[in-house]
Amino acid sequence: MNAASYSPAWLRALTAPLPEGLASPLETARFELNAFYPADQMPEICFREEMGDSYRIERADGRLRLSGGKTGVLYGAYALIFTSVCGTSVRLGSSAPYYPLRVLSCWDNMDGSVERGYSGNSLWFEGGHVRYDPARIRQLGRMLAGAGINVLCVNNVNVHYPAQELIASQLNETAALAAELRPFGVRLMLSVDFSMPLSQGVGTADPLDENVQRWWRERAKRIWEAVPDFAGFMVKADSEHRPGPNAYGRTHAEGANMLARAIAPYGGKLIWRAFVYDCMQDWRDTLTDRAKAAFEIYKPLDGRFDDNVILQVKHGPFDFQVREPVSPLLLSMPRTHLALEVQLAQEYTGQQKDIYAMLPLWREIFDTVGKDKVEAFTAVSNLGRDANWTGHPFAALNLFAFGAFGWDPDSDPERVTRLWARLTYGLKPAEEDTLVSWLLRSRSIYEKCTSNLGLGWMVTPNTHYGPNPWGYEFQSWGTYNRADRNAVGVDRTKTGTNYVSQYPEELKRLYEDPRSCPENLLLFFHRLRYDCVMADGRTLIQRLYDDHFDGFMETEEMARALLSLPLPQEDMEQVEDRMRLQLENAREWRDVTNTFFHRLSGVEDARGRKIYE
Ligand code: GCU
Repeated sequence: MNAASYSPAWLRALTAPLPEGLASPLETARFELNAFYPADQMPEICFREEMGDSYRIERADGRLRLSGGKTGVLYGAYALIFTSVCGTSVRLGSSAPYYPLRVLSCWDNMDGSVERGYSGNSLWFEGGHVRYDPARIRQLGRMLAGAGINVLCVNNVNVHYPAQELIASQLNETAALAAELRPFGVRLMLSVDFSMPLSQGVGTADPLDENVQRWWRERAKRIWEAVPDFAGFMVKADSEHRPGPNAYGRTHAEGANMLARAIAPYGGKLIWRAFVYDCMQDWRDTLTDRAKAAFEIYKPLDGRFDDNVILQVKHGPFDFQVREPVSPLLLSMPRTHLALEVQLAQEYTGQQKDIYAMLPLWREIFDTVGKDKVEAFTAVSNLGRDANWTGHPFAALNLFAFGAFGWDPDSDPERVTRLWARLTYGLKPAEEDTLVSWLLRSRSIYEKCTSNLGLGWMVTPNTHYGPNPWGYEFQSWGTYNRADRNAVGVDRTKTGTNYVSQYPEELKRLYEDPRSCPENLLLFFHRLRYDCVMADGRTLIQRLYDDHFDGFMETEEMARALLSLPLPQEDMEQVEDRMRLQLENAREWRDVTNTFFHRLSGVEDARGRKIYE
């Protein structure tokens, strides 16, 4: 396939190849509108610098008028085009993004591989260098701007060699990539290695050392000279063996502030990840609870971060499991700028083979946390070099919806899914209903198939795909279900690890009592006997069995419904392939998990269905 013909899924209607040399988002907006509208319907464009990211659509003298700022004008152009493609009436009025930073964090390595990437290799790295097809990068820009995403962090948070060079000997290559994305209002961000000065002749990376501080200031100066609109750094420090300030006895506030001060003169942001825990835990130690780590480390530092530091918190206390409660840290840092991190790359949620639409998850998070608790929205990217960009054609919904929720965290999952479906496929109403309703159910189906009731982690170690109930049980990662012949789950109330005490009173009370705890989080917070009776009268063990049987049946039903849709042939082939894998996967999960619990508990399925021995 010719790179220029890779059509970003929901932008199929934009068939004109983007030309080289677009100078600004305004010029891109003009190009897109011109190519889309017949001359006599072409909206009038009013550029208003002060409007920034926002836009306004009006009708004046029978003609549409789009006013917008530097990037707003481009977002407004896509909004106009979308409504036209969908055949809905234009929504007049103003629109502005709720979060100024809508960051796509790409775990791309410079050898071209992508950590937890399920859509092929990197779109911009190859053989240790920044290498890309400019036409495809322009399509990427169109795709990101169309979704409303405005920052691209291009390299893995685990900064492997030679990614350090992106801010050193390969800075020109970085600058060239930034220039390709500039006409789409997308700014570049880089993950940096906290210990970099150590390998560059400074001899230490101690954040309180003046030479270290000078080294970073000097580095920042060179970066912003090369990339004037550079967005800033992302840092994974003292986490999963990455270097950090702890090695020098310094706090994360001291580490983050040192870097933040180096980039502050240029308006740079320092995104510091709060994904920090002891990954060398002894599984025999039942008092240490990984879920508690981030709160214990960062809560005492609230108010001690500089103004341009953003602490980035994963949505749950663990690691993007199929279901987790919200991270208590998101509710406990009133004097710290926070970013909410989600993961489009479906590491634990089906790896872009199985369908897992994330919108209901995000709706729950924003409803629980409150949109105003955070100031930025970040997602681990699901993009790669595959022709359809996201591996599974339906996984594009998650990327599109991430942009929509970053723009408006009050977004309605159904409305966004419908918009994406209409832009992507233009199906008849009943067909569209089928697609939308199954996509919205996909998360709950996947949850039933895999680790229900908040258990999490029953995956194959390392790959994180497929069932392995004890795969993480005797390891150092702090991820245990502690299943035995009588009971399963971890007691996180005051009789156990007391993790629950990290929540504000109302949530604490909700979670600490098994009678009020939402069922889908029951085994996250409680250790329960298999014979304990659930709200609907079923025993816990029966519920574990039933969900796995139901999950498989619902997957079959979903497959039948989705495969009956008249999708374009190319997408259909891919959906068919992946549905086959999803069915195999659901079957494997059902049989392995049910057999596991049956062997442990010795309890038969009340409905006499086949459980393997
Ligand atoms: C998970 C994932 C890693 C990743 C890490 C992170 O643990 O498995 O691949 O590096 O999250 O978010 O930093």
